[in-house]
This record gives sequence, C-alpha cells and structure tokens, in this order.
Amino acid sequence: MAPPTRVTKGLEKVVVPAANFGLNFVSSYHPPQIEFRAARVKEDPAELEKAAETLKQAGAIVLRGFYSTSQIDRLRGSVEPFFEEAEQWRNADPKHLEDQRVLVQNGVRKTLNGYGSILKHPKPVLNFRIDEDAGLVDLFHPERIFEPQGAIGVADPNKESLVQTLLERAFSCHFKTSVRNLYLNDSVVRTRGFHIDGLDMKSKNFLYLTDVGSDEDGPYSYALGTHRASKRLRAANLRYNASLGRRWDDFPLHASRRRVVFHGERGDLIISMQFGAHRGLPQHWNRRRIVLVHTVAEVKKARAEVAPDGAAPLAVNPQQDPPSAHA
Ligand SMILES: [Fe+2]
Repeated sequence: MAPPTRVTKGLEKVVVPAANFGLNFVSSYHPPQIEFRAARVKEDPAELEKAAETLKQAGAIVLRGFYSTSQIDRLRGSVEPFFEEAEQWRNADPKHLEDQRVLVQNGVRKTLNGYGSILKHPKPVLNFRIDEDAGLVDLFHPERIFEPQGAIGVADPNKESLVQTLLERAFSCHFKTSVRNLYLNDSVVRTRGFHIDGLDMKSKNFLYLTDVGSDEDGPYSYALGTHRASKRLRAANLRYNASLGRRWDDFPLHASRRRVVFHGERGDLIISMQFGAHRGLPQHWNRRRIVLVHTVAEVKKARAEVAPDGAAPLAVNPQQDPPSAHA
C-alpha cells in the first residue's frame, strides 16, 4: 500500500490516502522552468512560444520585468495617496461613502448586492473586505481613476496584448478582458487555502506593485499542472470537501511538491490559470502588498455581454463568489 500523502489545509496538516489522481504524482517530479524575462518574450518569437507552451503545461508563469521598477514607482505615486485618502471611508457612516471618483462598500454599509452588481456599477467601487478577508481593500476598475492621470500599468494596451497573445497561443481560444482590480493587502494574516475560481477558462494576471521578497509579504502561490487535473482528482476534491462541509471549490488534494510561491520584484507579472489550485499566502502583521489584477476570460459567444462602458465583453458569472484575499 502506498504511503500517505501530506496535504496542507490552511495551517493545519491533514493526512489523506495516497492515490494516483492522474497527474503523475511521482517522487521524480521536477517543476518546469516557469520564469521568463518579459522583454525577451516580447522580442523573440521562439521565447514567446516557449512561454506559451509552459503556460499551457504548468498553468502559471512569471514574466520578470514586465514593467521597470521606475515605471511602477510612478504608478504608485498615484495609487498610494489614493489608498491613504480612502482610509477615511473604512469605518465611515452611510452618509459619506461616495465621492466623484468612487462608490465605497465597507463593514458599516453595503449598498450593492453581490459581485455582479459591483462589476456593473457605473462608478469604480472601493470595497473594504471584512471577516475572513479583513485587511484587503479591493478597487474595481482602477483604470477609470488612474488612467486619466497618465499612470502606467493600468489598462496599457501594449502590455495587455502580450498577455492575450500568450493565452491564445497556449489554449487556442479567444480571450478578452473581464475586469481589472487593484488590491491593497495590509496585514491580511488569514487567507483561504488552495482553491479554484470555478471551472471556466480564465486567467488572472497579477502585477506586483510592491516587492514581494518573502513569504511574510503574502506572495501568490500555485500548484503547477492542477489546471489539467483529471476528472478523478476533481471528483476526489468534491467528495472530500462535501465530507467536511467545505466549499465545493476548495482544492486541498494535490501533491504539495507541485506548489510554487511567487516571490518577486515590483514590475513582475504572474499569469495564472484560475481553474488550477492557487491561493495567496497569509501575510505577517504590518506587511503591505499592492497588486494590480487583470482578469481575462475566454470569449464564449453565447454568454458574452457588453460591459457597461462598452470597453470589453464580460464573461463572468454574476453569481460567483468574490475573489478571496489572494494576490
Ligand atoms: Fe482564487
């Protein structure tokens, strides 16, 4: 009989029976090389093909130096004062939760009902998350606030088209931007464990705006190859979750050796297929991380809708749960 496999469930260790779940979980597993220089991917067609093939196989890659540190610092020159000013709204009463730029949701009052309503609201929505995601401030549609100021890194068509090309080469289907978010994680000491964001063909592209040099900063983490998990592995996770009363989309059963943690410098971009297992690591107290998140989804003709600003089709399920406090 095979020895047990150790699986991490948050901070708690649980032991489940070892099994071949269809991902060739053998001790000789060597993680693929998933780091690329962004400039080389852009300039060298062979490097672009290599990055696309790696994304197809591994489900996540990182493009180092997608923006220079000086470009990112210029963007932060707009973003950080905005977040500092926004602190006035964290515990504000319902009369004062809006200005000409944003509508605010906080623990005192939520005027919008659900993720779909936030996405479609004509104004950018600033969401102070509470409960299990306490510490996360999530700004929807940041490009509507920062682009007019000439900030770099928000809705830059030259950069976003490179990501789209990689995705289309890797998965042979068409992708469009669904939404952009700006996350401020400030001392988020509890985060959700490994999970998937549904089963749709979707990527999230995480641009670090602050250096994420250690686990204490709350880096993004991914279990490589799990986006190609077999039906058997997915069914095993469903049964396991149901038996413990967990959410259906938790994904605790996978080989821990497949996990990578994305440390990086500001300006690095992670491309991640969200139907593979992922999470953000919990931060240590007083650690602060800012990430720009660009969500891209497969265009499905029957389901595509036009976004309120006419900028891009929305391929999102309005009933889906909001993203947890990962990158
Ligand atoms: Fe997620």
